[in-house]
Amino acid sequence: MKITVIGTGYVGLVSGACLAEMGNDVLCLDLDPAKIRILQDGGIPIHEPGLGPMVERNVAAGRLHFTTDIDEAVRFGTVQFIAVGTPPDEDGSADLKYVLAAARNIGSRMDEYKVVVDKSTVPVGTADKVRAVIAEALATRGVTLPFAVVSNPEFLKEGAAIEDFMKPDRIVIGADDEQAISVMRALYAPFQRNRDKLVVMDTRSAELTKYAANAMLATRISFMNELALLAEKLGADIELVRQGIGSDPRIGYHFLYAGCGYGGSCFPKDVKALIHSGAEVGQGLGVLQAVEAANERQKRVLVDKIVQRFGEDLRNHRFALWGLAFKPNTDDMRDAPSRVLIAELFKRGATVTAYDPVAADEARRLFGADERLAYADSPMDALAGADALVIATEWKEFRSPDFGRIKTLLKHPVIFDGRNLYEPSLLKAAGIQYSPIGRVTP
Ligand code: UDX
Repeated sequence: MKITVIGTGYVGLVSGACLAEMGNDVLCLDLDPAKIRILQDGGIPIHEPGLGPMVERNVAAGRLHFTTDIDEAVRFGTVQFIAVGTPPDEDGSADLKYVLAAARNIGSRMDEYKVVVDKSTVPVGTADKVRAVIAEALATRGVTLPFAVVSNPEFLKEGAAIEDFMKPDRIVIGADDEQAISVMRALYAPFQRNRDKLVVMDTRSAELTKYAANAMLATRISFMNELALLAEKLGADIELVRQGIGSDPRIGYHFLYAGCGYGGSCFPKDVKALIHSGAEVGQGLGVLQAVEAANERQKRVLVDKIVQRFGEDLRNHRFALWGLAFKPNTDDMRDAPSRVLIAELFKRGATVTAYDPVAADEARRLFGADERLAYADSPMDALAGADALVIATEWKEFRSPDFGRIKTLLKHPVIFDGRNLYEPSLLKAAGIQYSPIGRVTP
């Protein structure tokens, strides 16, 4: 099948590469010539395991192409994926200007039947807007052509996006048009060989499904984070509670890890956007508002613990920080808890030496040349002479460090662990004062 993907950001690039991998002919459009040049030269502008080789393979096979030419892109694909950004407005609502511009480009150029697929995360009702914009562009040209608009939200996790796309749990298709549904069915057939994973519905339900999924997961995390704070006060251990409730199949084990808050490009933005959508139609979303507030508070929990131990005035204190990315296997720091932590430490006069396997460049970009933030080349290098260690991301390489060395390198043998990586008894035995989230420490 011939497919155009508009937008070579995270979602567009992963979708384009995976669709090409299944033998489709894919053309990816981006208006940024620098980005397209990097991609044409075989480079990848984002960090995602497996994506680089996949792009390279499919470019070499002649199935994956990149362009900045809108005419060519609209002419190319029968299916036109819109995968452009929807940055949050100041009020938390998703800004649709790029999505609607893509729709306008399609409507003002198409000359045969097209299936236009919304892949970007967009508020309920966007498919209707896209349809109206295309119809208007066609009318301006005095042309009548059949077309369909489909909502096909993505459920990709950063760091596992290729796997999520190639072996999806479900493929949500929102469409009102039989022809479009059969095109989407054919397109996704190779991704669902062992069972039918297509969940077909109307476009508004599909759009809400995406937000509902992320909001539900964020709710689980905030709920566990709040229970962790309660557990600390009651002398209970959230890890044991997690195992105790997760074994109930109605609850399940996923997304029950308490920590220093959720971040990333999806949960914070989608929770805010859904609250905003609710307000627009006069539907309060109290549960979700609490989820958001709990997460904001949770991002400060590590600082509260540091202040409890070292006092409010942290001048002349330097903290080693392990982990900058919002989660492992990515260099993404959007809404990362580490950013709040660093800012709060700076506010109190402290300095930070950070180590992250891949996100240091991103941190340099975000914080600029700030002498209060230094970068180490290894986890142990970050520790030398620091007052204490703080952990904000659960990278695998942090999981079993040499505690003896940690103890000798730090000024005070204290670890504030925002991701509950260690067994408290083990650290006690190593002579380290351990401060995890919601756990009983001996
Ligand atoms: C998420 C959704 O999982 C994905 O389906 C959607 O398409 C985009 O948003 P992503 O943001 O890449 O994906 O990361 P995810 O693995 O879901 O983690 C999000 C945040 O929640 C991270 O900051 C992580 O540390 C935190 N988290 C996750 C917890 O604090 N506890 C958990 O139990 C799980």
